[in-house]
Amino acid sequence: MDLSEFQWQLDRPIRMKTAEFEREGRLKHCIFASQFDRPLLQKTCFIADMIRVLSRTREGSNKLRELLSHKRAMLYFAQPSTRTFLSFMAACQILGITCNEVRDPSLSSEVKKESPLDSIRMFSSYFDLIIMRSNITQFAECCAYLMNDLAQNSMRSVPIVNGGAGSNEHPTQALLDVYTIDRTFQFGQKEASSKSRIMDLRRKYSNLTHGLDNKIYAFCGDLGRGRTVRSLATVLSQYQNTTMVFVAPPDETLQLDSELRDHLISKNVQIYELDSLDAAINGVPILKQIDCLYMTRIQKEHDTPEMAASYQSLDLSHFKLTRDRVEQMKDYAPILHPFPRDSEEAEIPTEIDKDPRAMYFRQARNGMWARAALLLHICDGVDQLHTLYKEFYGVTAEESLVI
Ligand code: NCD
Repeated sequence: MDLSEFQWQLDRPIRMKTAEFEREGRLKHCIFASQFDRPLLQKTCFIADMIRVLSRTREGSNKLRELLSHKRAMLYFAQPSTRTFLSFMAACQILGITCNEVRDPSLSSEVKKESPLDSIRMFSSYFDLIIMRSNITQFAECCAYLMNDLAQNSMRSVPIVNGGAGSNEHPTQALLDVYTIDRTFQFGQKEASSKSRIMDLRRKYSNLTHGLDNKIYAFCGDLGRGRTVRSLATVLSQYQNTTMVFVAPPDETLQLDSELRDHLISKNVQIYELDSLDAAINGVPILKQIDCLYMTRIQKEHDTPEMAASYQSLDLSHFKLTRDRVEQMKDYAPILHPFPRDSEEAEIPTEIDKDPRAMYFRQARNGMWARAALLLHICDGVDQLHTLYKEFYGVTAEESLVI
């Protein structure tokens, strides 16, 4: 694929690119996790809450489906995907967006040597939004430049949403991860039924605060090749007084890469790099100290024969959860995983699923709300959602405590 025509644009630092992916104070394309600054995250989490609440009733769901019923989306997933694909599809359905899909480019005209960039331009003729996943790291970014060039020439141009690019970026996964962590660290304060748990928790954990600031986040597993870790760590680096603990096997290809490390240091994140979940910092086991644990699988599908051979000597048991390990964790600390988990390696054995800290299935469901919120934001439907909420409940979402 010839992406070289965008080379000078690709070669710039990210901070120079992001303004081109916005319009009228909104995201136009969602390509990088760093596009999610704190105000946008807060806003998107709030929209996701509103959509979640309205979806509880048939009437609410019917109204939500009217919001974007005039839009069509193409889901172009050239890499395996279950959750991301289905949750984007469900998000479209929640908002009334009609979807179509290409999941296997070998069934498209790409077998007739059509370039993927031509495919994208063709989709933009029929659809109002393109959600895509590619194994080519910068493909979604190039598609966004293609759309911007078309817009500049007064031609049809549609938003591009990155559903996972190479080993580099997975911005919407970071969005749903933050939504899940934020909901956990509200400690029930927004729910009408349960009074805030934080007072009880503070008896045991005296420094505990609401929200994502002042927390210790641990990431475990294949940190070198996992795009979800890269995107989430980038987004979390904006929060105050953040510590990150990276637990990966002792092989450079699986560990935190220097670019991300440098970025986190530049954001004043305190970093620890360790080679076992049983490791300690200042004599205290990390599992007792962390506020959130993000597990990942070893992504064997990317192994070269040389990598596979060198990984033989690694003891992966240091990167798997066990009952004993979970027991050491704080009562409220969520266990997240982007999934899929590896059923053979069992980095999270199924016996952990019943633990109240196991948040990964809720995290996947939150992906649907968070992605619907993002699509509504991109398609400029948020004001209408606020109107709908007020009509429905007689109060604005800001006034209503029952989120
Ligand atoms: C991940 C991905 O594809 O990057 N899954 C996901 O999107 N939920 C992680 C993985 O495949 O391990």
